[in-house]
Amino acid sequence: MTTVFTDSPMPDDRRRSHIYQGDIFVTSPNAATRALTDFARELVEEAFAPLDPQQAQHEIPVEKFVEIFGPVKPKFIHHPKTKSLLRDIVDQQSADLDETYIDVPRLRGATSDGYLTAGVGYAFPLHRDVWWSAPLAQINWWLPIFDFESESSMAFHPHYWDTGISNGSEEFNYYVYNATGRAQAAQHVGKDTRKQPGPREPVRPEPQIRVVCPAGGMIGFSAAQMHSTVPNTSGRTRFSIDFRTVNAADLRAGRSAPNVDTYCEGTSLRDFRRGSDGSPMPAELVAQYDSGEIPEGAVLVYEPVTAASS
Ligand SMILES: [Fe+2]
Repeated sequence: MTTVFTDSPMPDDRRRSHIYQGDIFVTSPNAATRALTDFARELVEEAFAPLDPQQAQHEIPVEKFVEIFGPVKPKFIHHPKTKSLLRDIVDQQSADLDETYIDVPRLRGATSDGYLTAGVGYAFPLHRDVWWSAPLAQINWWLPIFDFESESSMAFHPHYWDTGISNGSEEFNYYVYNATGRAQAAQHVGKDTRKQPGPREPVRPEPQIRVVCPAGGMIGFSAAQMHSTVPNTSGRTRFSIDFRTVNAADLRAGRSAPNVDTYCEGTSLRDFRRGSDGSPMPAELVAQYDSGEIPEGAVLVYEPVTAASS
């Protein structure tokens, strides 16, 4: 059973334990979440000006869309302001910033009607983020930048919470992915040839839960929760932010969502920084969750070459 909590005043430790059981938390827009989504909206609007970013796909060829949107992503991700805005959101959730480690956020654009389905507009089919070496204690936070609809939302498939499926995680090594698969997303305009550890058997997307909240709202869920990008048929491009947190006390104690079908090698834990002071994840915690080989040429932490912050 999956419960969707809205604006729950629950303390962070209880909220995390619910999320590790497959529950979903929805937060109404607040000053901290709005500050982040407003900042992202300004960057997106500035890049597409004079076009409306949600409608630009109807005005310009797809290559031009990629040329405009591609650079906005690293600009937002690595902007000094972004980090403090994320910290404010975590703090506003009453999470302990000394124990909460935060990854850099992502900025996504899901175009409508199959305009762009690869690279910067890649629509993820059913998946769990843990198949990409995310820790089982990871919590994903998703925020829409503009109002959106069910037809341009994200879907959860909770019937897979305790049911495993055959998937590509057994061939996935995070450090090899960092070295090869993550770079150059903007080069993919037609077919996306990056290796992704998706399902290897027919999946049942139904039943599914779609949560629609206003711009600046936030949806929190486990990285082990099966979810997907709904094929956008709303006629408008949907822009969203997502970021991840992990609690060090839970890592130390082994508290997390259950592992039902994840077999990948490596861990993304080195990507996280402590909320209070930006310090790296303690090496002993990384070691506790690391696995498999570190092949020659592999990269422990992905550093995008286009990390423009101006
Ligand atoms: Fe995901």
